[in-house]
Amino acid sequence: MTAVLDDNARLGFEISDVDLSKPLDDATVERLENEIVRHSVVVIRDQKITPEQHKAFGARLGELAIHVAKAYLLPGHPEVYIVSNVVENGRNIGVSDAGPTWHSDFSYLPAPAKYSLLYALEVPVIDGEPKGDTSFASTFAAYDALPEKRKRELESLKVIYRYGDQYEKRRQSGSQLVALTGEQRQQTPDVMHPMVRTHPKSGRKCIYISDGTAAGVVGMAESEGRQLIRELIDHCTQPRFVYRHRWRVGDLVVWDNCSSLHKANSKDYALPYRRRMHRVTVSGSVPF
Ligand code: SIN
Repeated sequence: MTAVLDDNARLGFEISDVDLSKPLDDATVERLENEIVRHSVVVIRDQKITPEQHKAFGARLGELAIHVAKAYLLPGHPEVYIVSNVVENGRNIGVSDAGPTWHSDFSYLPAPAKYSLLYALEVPVIDGEPKGDTSFASTFAAYDALPEKRKRELESLKVIYRYGDQYEKRRQSGSQLVALTGEQRQQTPDVMHPMVRTHPKSGRKCIYISDGTAAGVVGMAESEGRQLIRELIDHCTQPRFVYRHRWRVGDLVVWDNCSSLHKANSKDYALPYRRRMHRVTVSGSVPF
């Protein structure tokens, strides 16, 4: 069974007839990938999967990536990044504020993430209401809505991405993130990507930007570049382009990092209300 989640936002598709604990045939994988490319966000309900099965599904969609912040990888499964506010033995078992700003995963790498697969193991529910939603914005709908002249102007620009600085800024503003090692910082030098990228499968144009890691625009003064980045983030995340996912335990949400931005809403719950998610990330290609 499938249903469009939010027609208005033009992204989001729900699937409940797939069991990811079992090997998938090629036709099913192809159908799923087509829906991911078409709708940017696909919600697969009612799953009960192990880390091996989660990785096996991700690996059907491409090569798995390992997050540079090694402190939050699932022991024995470095391809699984833990997103959680749970504390065990005096330490956070995962990153509790993954993605507090609108971003696209691994935009700071030369070949950013293609898809991310976030699986809900525990969802905080307060007074019957699930908390800790994830919001998604369609960057191809946002691109399509621009005036033609503006599209042409943006298409000639490149954005500079910088990982270590924003990570450190988050730490200094109260995040519990564990500091990056010198080696991890070295693994993430500045990179540049086009401000408008073409989806490698659909050929659609998408605005490509990330709040936090996008540090400037090539050829512009720092303040001017930052202002343009802000303007574009605000444009892409208008309510008409956004779908907000309310999690249920067993949801596996797959998103396309070329055609969408996402943001965690982590301010409406805290321990003892627990949120525990596992994320597997599929590597992508160099944006063009
Ligand atoms: C992420 O940005 O990968 C995590 C999103 C979330 O925790 O809702």
